[in-house]
Amino acid sequence: MINVAILGFGTVGSGVAEVIEKNNAHISEKAATQINLKYILDVKEVPGTPFDGKFIHDFSIIESDPELNVVVETIGGAKVAYEYTKRALAAGKSVVTSNKELVATHGCELLRLAREKGVNYLFEASVGGGIPILHPINSCLAGNQISEIVGILNGTTNYILTRMIREGATFEAALSEAQANGYAERNPAADVEGPDACRKICILSSLAFGRHIYPEQVPTEGITRITLEDVSCAAKAGCKVKLLGRAIARADGKICAYVAPHLVPVENPLSSVEGVFNAITVVGDAIGDVMFYGQGAGKLPTASAVVADVIDAAKNWNQGTIMSWDEGGADTVYSTDELSSRWYVRAVGTVAPSGAQKLSAPEAENVVFLTEDAMTRPALDALLQQAGVTPAFLMRVLD
Ligand code: HSE
Repeated sequence: MINVAILGFGTVGSGVAEVIEKNNAHISEKAATQINLKYILDVKEVPGTPFDGKFIHDFSIIESDPELNVVVETIGGAKVAYEYTKRALAAGKSVVTSNKELVATHGCELLRLAREKGVNYLFEASVGGGIPILHPINSCLAGNQISEIVGILNGTTNYILTRMIREGATFEAALSEAQANGYAERNPAADVEGPDACRKICILSSLAFGRHIYPEQVPTEGITRITLEDVSCAAKAGCKVKLLGRAIARADGKICAYVAPHLVPVENPLSSVEGVFNAITVVGDAIGDVMFYGQGAGKLPTASAVVADVIDAAKNWNQGTIMSWDEGGADTVYSTDELSSRWYVRAVGTVAPSGAQKLSAPEAENVVFLTEDAMTRPALDALLQQAGVTPAFLMRVLD
């Protein structure tokens, strides 16, 4: 028998308890051992659930129970969750989590601790909600040199952009809906300003490229400056506006990772990913492009990935860690200034540089245009300066 404790009975934690309970026979069969939900740790009392009698408030009960094997951490954040994860791993328990902030910030250290203790630290649910993406990168695609990962990594912002594009909904109305559906982070700035997608591209690139990429190494821009005018000008250019996380490997092994809104041409399958769905394209030297698609947020899709990791932890009990990567550093990354792309520019005034494709109407207050050629950001700045254009907002085109 494998005994499991859940830390934090919020949206994801309660979903995990529900799935373990509902599908217990099937899950235990897959794990080839009985999976038993023994404790739920939360600060509050939650009466009237099927889990009465399992609630505790003192983490040391879990830490000191020699029969407790797997800890599911769904507290979130990188404070209490960090302390409890270290203590659980140090006590020889495997830890499974959906906590992207903690993995993106301290993943390397926690994986090292898991390795030293011969247990697992698993976090499939931290990226793409219910989409299997980390295990495929770690195992199924392990024979490839990966050159690029690009994806829609945040369900809340994709939901907001979809509502703006399809129905002309305001940003605020669409955000309230995402919050009501349980997609948004406790502090929605983590979604709309990009940190959530930043954490996810950190995890993806650390795993794919083998060295930790830290959030502070990833330039991050969200969707708060996007207007309905941008959305409609993008449509005129045959594109949709999408918030993308992107990581590109250079020949010398350095990585450029960033998060920013992009114009995605409608021929690219990422453009048709709508609502809370996420999609991630991975480019490998043997496989070419491979795309992963599914529900990127929500209680049960995320619980689905957590429970799969619980089964993995149970099956690989005492066999050491499945995932790993090395420490990163300043020599791991290179600057976005080296990346060339076509650019979407919104500026005050009426003049577009010669050769650019003008997207705004002649009488519009802002001039909006696409550069014809791909160029780096410093080259774009020089071109705009020469043409006397002061940009108000810029986006790359994902060509
Ligand atoms: N707030 C996140 C999102 C939840 O909207 O994608 C899943 O990580």
